[in-house]
Amino acid sequence: MLDDYMNWERYILKTPADLPDRYNYGGRVYEISQAERLYVAGMGGSGVIGDLIRDLSMVRDWPFEVIVVKDYFFKGKSGLMIAVSYSGNTAETLTAARLALERGIPVIGITTGGKLAEMGVPIVKIPKASAPRAALPQMFTAALWILRRIYGVAFDLPEVLPYDQKLAERLERALSARPTVVAPSSMQGIAYRVKNEANENAKIDPSVEILPEAHHNWIEGARGPIVALTSPDIPPEHKLRVELTLQLIPGELFDVSMTVSGILTFLKHVGIATVRIAESRNVDPLKTPRIEELKRRLPQ
Ligand code: F6R
Repeated sequence: MLDDYMNWERYILKTPADLPDRYNYGGRVYEISQAERLYVAGMGGSGVIGDLIRDLSMVRDWPFEVIVVKDYFFKGKSGLMIAVSYSGNTAETLTAARLALERGIPVIGITTGGKLAEMGVPIVKIPKASAPRAALPQMFTAALWILRRIYGVAFDLPEVLPYDQKLAERLERALSARPTVVAPSSMQGIAYRVKNEANENAKIDPSVEILPEAHHNWIEGARGPIVALTSPDIPPEHKLRVELTLQLIPGELFDVSMTVSGILTFLKHVGIATVRIAESRNVDPLKTPRIEELKRRLPQ
């Protein structure tokens, strides 16, 4: 798993998504065009793609609204959906995709295979990794290529994600303390990914608080320590909120460039740090037995 994170750049997709302009599904024609509303459905390691696309759309002012769907239930009436499932078999994602199609909303899948690949909607097939969460570079860049093809959005495509041992060690120390990860809403996806990696790799349970909302409640109960996230690319209102939080609650600040390169480089270090925490706690970073057990106990 450490090997996956260390070599993440290998999984970055370098070629544009090959998508039709329209497709048939169940006797109906679905047009792939520039919808004002983009739904990104997915759970866990796949679901974070929607969060990151939402962050980028806010910071980069992309011309569509991103709605993240992390449930079976989906009430959208118009738009476009990207359904992300590493395995292609996640019940919530498949159900949301079917509901979208029933409402005439075109769905594009990102997956390694499974039921999603067989559904009959256009798919971007991604290479496998040691676990869904380790496949972030290919899922994330697959989604970005889809957005370039449909909306013409621009994004950077890193050649290398340089390793910084000091950053990995700082993250390992800070996350070992099971902090509250505090981020502005323009970095919500990064914050949840940090928490999820600590949960799944290190088997510890830090929490997440999102600003500015957390300044209206959590701040009164907070004791710290916090891991605060900021970026040169976020709105000044958000930067100020992060600074003010650190004036009141003890913790550490991490600066993330909100580019594809900056996001992947930071999250690579989060992956490495959480694998190291797992090793120091003597737990297997790769195995997620409770997640698997829950999936087994659900109706297939
Ligand atoms: C991450 C992980 C889970 C899955 C989630 C959804 O490594 O194992 O968070 O990503 O259970 O499954 P998929 O990604 O297959 O749709």
